[in-house]
Amino acid sequence: MLLTNLKAATMRDGYGLIADAAIMIEGGRITWIGPSAEAPSGHEATDCQSRLATPGLIDCHTHIVYGGSRAHEFEQRLTGVSYAEIAQAGGGIASTVRATRSQSKADLAASALKRLDALLAEGVTTIEIKSGYGLDRDTEMKMLKVARELSQWRPVDVVTSYLGAHALPPEFKENRQGYLDLVCTEVLPAVAKAGLADAVDAFCEGIAFSVEETRRVFAVAKSLGIPVKLHAEQLTNLGGSKMAAEFGALSVDHIEYLDQEGVDAIARSGTVAVLLPGAFYYLREKQAPPVAALRKAGVPLAVATDLNPGTSPVHSILTTMNMASVLFGLTPEEALMGVTANAALALGLKDRGVLAPGMKADIALWNTERPGDLAYPLGFNPLAAVIHKGEIVRGML
Ligand code: NIG
Ligand code: FE
Repeated sequence: MLLTNLKAATMRDGYGLIADAAIMIEGGRITWIGPSAEAPSGHEATDCQSRLATPGLIDCHTHIVYGGSRAHEFEQRLTGVSYAEIAQAGGGIASTVRATRSQSKADLAASALKRLDALLAEGVTTIEIKSGYGLDRDTEMKMLKVARELSQWRPVDVVTSYLGAHALPPEFKENRQGYLDLVCTEVLPAVAKAGLADAVDAFCEGIAFSVEETRRVFAVAKSLGIPVKLHAEQLTNLGGSKMAAEFGALSVDHIEYLDQEGVDAIARSGTVAVLLPGAFYYLREKQAPPVAALRKAGVPLAVATDLNPGTSPVHSILTTMNMASVLFGLTPEEALMGVTANAALALGLKDRGVLAPGMKADIALWNTERPGDLAYPLGFNPLAAVIHKGEIVRGML
């Protein structure tokens, strides 16, 4: 397939624009990209009518597999009850755990597909999905299997993270040690053996797990050869990011309360900062992540929906890009980097996120002129077509 008459935002070092571009695709990969005038000859060309091409978008932090609804907690929070208070009273994550445990794989897949479809309609071609609403071995494995199987039903690549250390399950309420033993000696090894997790995640926070508890889980992940990432510094500054950096974490996510020491630590370890403006918005947080310090230290910034029933029922990656700009001050260029090149980095994927020879041919085509148009509007979707693994899977060319 030879696509011509494109504006290409290659996302190599910023937008990396090619004004009148052509892209050659063979065997599911990009084999050539450059100015149309220099395109390889002898191929039938598809005229893309001057559309904008970007890498397929990557949502690098989601929790789309879950049962139940938390709409009532949204109402509660609006009357002044905090996220932490709801969690302490047995709601929050624990309420989603109850619902998720009671659902079959088919039910979980059916509801996850609806959420996934909303993201795919905006050009997503790779998604990360976490467990963490099962907390016992069988339900965690059920969630991860459902997540992996979603790619059989839709044109998308799924990357999974085991998030056993998300919350303390009710049956271990008085026995933190016991739960961590279960995670470290039974569930994580079983998940690893079944090849169900591409990474290990945890929630390091006052209402969840301490730095030392998280360290224990990470040590097991490391011994099993699985990379780590962390929900850190979302509500308070516990120093989780610094500890994650010691493990060479792929990413630290949320990080509203990250301090300079933490910024320096993740800069040294090459860890990506994943910004989650949806959770910030829904929790009506006041402290934005230290974007200026992260930029100064050269930390790659990624942006993700954090789609989950509690803190971020956000089903739109374009809206999330806009929120990253309006709420956190990212430029539209940084927001697009955040859902392409830097999102790939946050998942440890070297074969996507930029348009370049050798990369997977995952491409989104937009009815718009400038890449800055993607983060600019709210509630407007200019997606024209999607190519996944070299095949047109949405729209027409
Ligand atoms: O990314 N911070 C922890 N985990 C999720 C929220 C999960 C939930 O409330 O269900 C998050 O915000
Ligand atoms: Fe999350």
